[in-house]
Formats: sequence, structure tokens, C-alpha cells
Amino acid sequence: MSKQSSFNLIKNETVKRLFDELSEEDLTLLIQSIKLLKESKKELSENAVGKKSVSEKEEETEKELSKELVEGTNIFDMVSSEVSGHEIADESLDSVEEPPVDMTFNIFDKIVKDKKTLFKKGEALTLRYFPEKIVHRDEEILQLASVLSPILDQRKPSNLLVYGKPGTGKTVCVKFVCEQLKKKAEENGTPLDIVFLNCKIGKSADTEYRLFAELARNFGEKVPATGLPTQEVYDIFCRSIDSNKRKVILVLDEIDNLVKKDGKKSELMYSLTRINSDKLQNSEISFIGISNDTTFIQYLDPRTKSSLGEEEFVFSPYNADQLKDLLTERANISFFDGVVKEPVISKCAAYAARENGDARKALELLRVSAELAERERSSSVREAHVDMAQEKIERDNVATLIEKQPKQSQIVLFSIIKLLEVESPVESSNIYDMYGQIANKVGLKPLTSRRVSDLIAELDIMGIINTKILYRGRGGRTRQISLAIPSDSLLKVNNILKGVLEL
Ligand SMILES: Nc1ncnc2c1ncn2[C@@H]1O[C@H](COP(=O)(O)OP(=O)(O)OP(=O)(O)O)[C@@H](O)[C@H]1O
Ligand SMILES: [Mg+2]
Repeated sequence: MSKQSSFNLIKNETVKRLFDELSEEDLTLLIQSIKLLKESKKELSENAVGKKSVSEKEEETEKELSKELVEGTNIFDMVSSEVSGHEIADESLDSVEEPPVDMTFNIFDKIVKDKKTLFKKGEALTLRYFPEKIVHRDEEILQLASVLSPILDQRKPSNLLVYGKPGTGKTVCVKFVCEQLKKKAEENGTPLDIVFLNCKIGKSADTEYRLFAELARNFGEKVPATGLPTQEVYDIFCRSIDSNKRKVILVLDEIDNLVKKDGKKSELMYSLTRINSDKLQNSEISFIGISNDTTFIQYLDPRTKSSLGEEEFVFSPYNADQLKDLLTERANISFFDGVVKEPVISKCAAYAARENGDARKALELLRVSAELAERERSSSVREAHVDMAQEKIERDNVATLIEKQPKQSQIVLFSIIKLLEVESPVESSNIYDMYGQIANKVGLKPLTSRRVSDLIAELDIMGIINTKILYRGRGGRTRQISLAIPSDSLLKVNNILKGVLEL
């Protein structure tokens, strides 16, 4: 219901006046608070009549878990032929009436003392955490393992490329398989080194130097951060690997960062893939490239392409049911009993399934929902917290995106926001004057109107603004511009822009 139609329904004049003074943001908050109140009431009455059945849920989860890889089984045993006792604090999470704050003490003493956390092991929801159980990737894990298994018989495995959208478990599965392989190789006495490298090391001119230096350091060499010719660093790396007879698996995560997309041949990838024949006599390297950018391979020359992609794996996005299992597993480790119930998990899973089946997003949503619930001193996470978390994450994402834009783009956006205060939508022909004034104020030389048009198109592609072309007879046309960011983010965005542009 719109604010206006709600307004028309109100009879009492005083309430009408108060309602009218509410901003859209206040109104959203008010509606969310009412939703939360309603849910607390519902939950209280449910608890009172003893409707909760935890056992059913536990049974279901157990059934699912038994389908997954049996814990403690090394995957390489299969190829060639916990929640770990965390004590559950029996804490009452009911809210208590607050005593007045005694300001003579450090205020954080009180906050720490009063804090009723919902998290039993909060780090299990962070990006650093390595999951105890990988769900719904058994097939991929077994396939990866079977490609790598020849190494246990001293044979070189094929190089492989692993693709898939962000958050589909590529990194986590490759790491898991490599860990298991390492253990098996140790048991068998097979000399094996596995080096895992994230290639997102900045797109600077010295990428190759930094990569080879990092690799050489992995083999115990001391290489200065700068100063040597790149070829020399590469030679040091090759010598260090070749000093012993051994097999090496080099995992290049986010490998697309090593590939130039300007049409120039990628020397780095070329030399790496030829390393076995050109440089090494004793050792042998196999490569695992991981990427969420499927287009990068077209920028490789054909020989590098076929060498790197001897085997290719595509990880598909998770569906809502798979994300539910993933979240249930993680929630059991992260929260005290009863804090997160099935509808909350389902809601987080549904939101993330809509956003490309990204497990990282699902986990973030659950974490932020619980943080919001905790901040409200709620004893459990509710569906309304998930909605609030989703909005917060969206707002934060937009804000971060805008913060990262070059100053000229920020000025264009700020001009659009200013103009929208007086006309909506804004006609693109009106932007240039405003843009010029603001650029001068900021102390930057205004760009040509053609460049400004390009920046407007970029803002459109990023989903920050919407543009629509209107045709006006006799070949005349104009672009109409409106904002695509949610209205409750506008204030935040405005403040960010004022801050970064020092206006
Ligand atoms: N099958 C799974 N079981 C348990 N946790 C998972 C699973 N898949 C992904 N995760 C978790 O989701 C997050 C993202 O996974 P991961 O980093 O492997 O994604 P990715 O495919 O490498 O994404 P990107 O392309 O963005 O690097 C991690 O925190 C990981 O622990
Ligand atoms: Mg990854």
C-alpha cells in the first residue's frame, strides 16, 4: 500500500499530521518493527502451547548428512579402489529489564556483561572459515580426485580448469581435494608439493615478477619484493622446484587475473604452461586453474589454451534446496540451539538462489540477519530480520560500488541526484550544465559532453541509474534518467558523495 493510500485511511487528525511527517525510510522502519512485534507475539503464544518440534528437524538433517561423504574417509581411498562436540551453553536468552547505566564505569563493561550472544561459533559464518563438511559437491570432488590421482603412482596428472559462477564452491572443493591428496601422498611416501596461489595480486606492470617471487618463496627462496629482472626471478623459481625430484601441483585461483584482455599474448601463462618441457628436468608441475570468468580463456593463445584446459570442470549454481542444506549445516555449528529455525534458513536460501545460487551470499545473509537480531536483543532470528538484512546488504553493496567509482563518475551521479530534486526523470541534455558547475566546485576540469554521456551509460550498466531513450519525431531523441538505487539508500549515497567530493 502506498503512503498516500495509507494516509487516506487515517481518521484521527493528530495521527494524520504525525504520519505525514514520516519519511519513506521512517515508514519502512515502522512497518518492520510492527512485523517483528507481531512475530514475537506469535512465537510467545506458540511456545506457550508447546508446539515446537526440534526432533523432526534433527531427524531430517541426520538423513541428509548420511548421504554426504562419510567423515574421516580419504577421498583418494575411494578413487584408487562436526560439529565437533561444541558445548551448548544452556543460557537463558530471555530479555531482562535494563538497569540504568552507571557512567562511572567503562560503558563497554556493561555492554560485554549484558551481551546475550546468539552465536555459539560466529567465525563459522565468515569467509576465512573452512567448512567441516562440503555438501552437494560429492560428484565434483570425486571427479577432481580421479583426475589428480595418477600423481600417487608418480605420474603427471592432466592440467585442469575449474569454472563456475561466484560462490559455487570451486575454491573450497579444490582445497579439500588437495588437502586429502597431500595426506594420502604423505602416507604413501610420494614426494608431492601443492602450492595454492590466489592470482588477484593487482593489475600492475609487475604482476609476473610478484607471482614468480611468491612461487619461489613457497620453495624457500629469498626473493626481494622488487629490483631483479623478472626473468631472473622466474629462473630462481624453476631452479628451486627442480632442486629435487618431485611432483608439484600449482593451483592458480582466480587465474583470469593473469590474462591480459587487451589482445596481447599472455607471456606469463605461456611460459608457465611450457615450464615442464623448457625448464624442468627433475620435477613436473601440473596446473589447476580456477576462475569465475568463463570468457578469459578466449584471450589465451591456442597452445596455452589447450595445455591448461586438458580437463575442464564446470560448477553449476546451487539451487534453493542445496543452499538450505549448506546453511543448516553451518547454522548448527554457528548458533545456539533454537536460534535459527527452518523458515529463516529457507528464506536466506531463497534469496541467495535468486542471486545466482551463490553460497557466499547465503552465508552472509544468515550472518547479517543474526547480527541484526542480536542487536535488537531478540532471542532468535526471524524472517523479518532476513528481509532487513537483505536490504542492508543491498544498500551496503550500492554504497561500496559508488564509493569505488572514479571522481568524474561520482560528479555525474551527484549532478543527477541534484537535478532529480527538481525534475523527475531528468533529461540527459540538462545534466551537462549541472555537471560542469559541480566539477568546477570540486576543482576538476570538466570532461567533454561525449565523455559524460559515456559515464552515464556506465552508471546505467552498473545498475545505479536507469536510462530510457525517448524519440521525439523528426529524428530528435533524448535520454530520460532516473535512479535505480533503493530510495532508502539515497540519503546514505548522498552523504558518501558529499564526503568523497568534499562538497
Ligand atoms: N558445498 C559447500 N559446502 C559448504 N560450504 C560451501 C560449499 N560451497 C561453498 N561453500 C562456502 O561458500 C563460500 C564460497 O565458496 P567458494 O569460495 O568455494 O566459492 P567460489 O566458487 O570459489 O567463488 P568465487 O568464484 O567467487 O571465488 C565459502 O565460504 C565456502 O566455505
Ligand atoms: Mg574462489
